[in-house]
Formats: sequence, C-alpha cells, structure tokens
Amino acid sequence: MLKPLNLRGFEIWKSCLDHPEQAVLLDALRPVLKAAPLFSPEIPGGGRMSVRMTSAGRCGWYSDRRGYRYAESHPSGVDWPAIPGEVLSVWDRVTGLERRPDSCLINHYGEGARMGLHQDRDEADLTWPVVSVSLGDDALFRIGNATRGGRTESVWLESGDVVVMGGPARLTYHGIDRIRFGSSTLLPGGGRINLTLRVAL
Ligand code: SIN
Ligand code: MN
Repeated sequence: MLKPLNLRGFEIWKSCLDHPEQAVLLDALRPVLKAAPLFSPEIPGGGRMSVRMTSAGRCGWYSDRRGYRYAESHPSGVDWPAIPGEVLSVWDRVTGLERRPDSCLINHYGEGARMGLHQDRDEADLTWPVVSVSLGDDALFRIGNATRGGRTESVWLESGDVVVMGGPARLTYHGIDRIRFGSSTLLPGGGRINLTLRVAL
C-alpha cells in the first residue's frame, strides 16, 4: 500500500481498498442496513440532515432536538448490529492499534446531500483517531481548522479511499460540500456511503 497523503494532519490513503474489497465491504453492510435502516436525523436547530444515517456497534451516533450524542439503540428500538469484521480490518490496517472502535457511523449521501463543516467531538476520549471509509460516488471533502472559520482546503474522496483523522487533527473541522452523483457504479442506486469508525465510549 502506498504511503498516505497528509493534508492538515489528515492521513489520506488513496485507493486503500481495491474494487473487490469495496464490494466485500458493501455486502457486509447489507444485513446491517436491513436490521438498522437508514434514517434522517433531526438537527438541534430544527430540520433534518440531508444525509441518511445508521450505525453499527455498541452505540450509534444520534441527533435530535435535544442535541448530538451516542445512543444505545436504533430509533426503532432494536440494538445496533455488530460492526462487520471486514470493516474492523480496515481500522486494523490503517491504525495498527490494539484498541478497536465501538461504533461505526454509516452515512448515505443521495443526490444533493451534503454535510456542513463540523468537529467530531461527541466521543468520550478524543485521543483515539476516527477512520473514514468512502464507498461509491466521489465526494468533495473540505478540511478547515481547529476552530471555526479560516482558510480551508478540499480534496476529492473516491470509492476505496480511507482517511485517518487523529492526533492534532482529531478536532479539525471537516465536511462534505457535495458529491458527484452517478460517478461510481458501486452502489446499485447511486450515491455514496461513508463509514466512520470511532472509539466512542
Ligand atoms: C463525517 O464527517 O461524519 C463524514 C465525512 C464523510 O462523509 O466523508
Ligand atoms: Mn465528522
């Protein structure tokens, strides 16, 4: 595997997963999405996110009018399914850590979906990295600073790319400006799936 690019402390592993590995991950996610269907979380200020989400693991990231947090179960009441082993092995590969994530957020971007600049800071211990896996359509990933505002830099993430957000970059603002809907044929209905693996508890 090639060395990662470093952009403001984010390690960007381009083409970390080849096409067969991407297809294996997608297959492993199918039963997860069936047991814990995607939903559009409410945002504290009102309205809903354009990205649909669900989770796997011991807890799942959740948002409603009361705020952002990790929840013990899916809004339907079912337990979050386990994180597939194929997904955990991506974490092992890029972090080399013994500790494994206890939550995997699954974001689905349909046509027009985006995610505003934000920090990932709902986890108990912010010293563990967050690992992001991109599947499907290309996405324009924007990286900002440790505080809101200032100059930003962007990079297109393609299917099979993996990003490690750790160390001093763990609290860097980031978001997705847009996807190139239909740029990949990996997802049968088009769109993009992003997995973020987190040590949350
Ligand atoms: C996220 O920050 O939770 C998602 C990033 C992405 O979709 O690449
Ligand atoms: Mn994030």
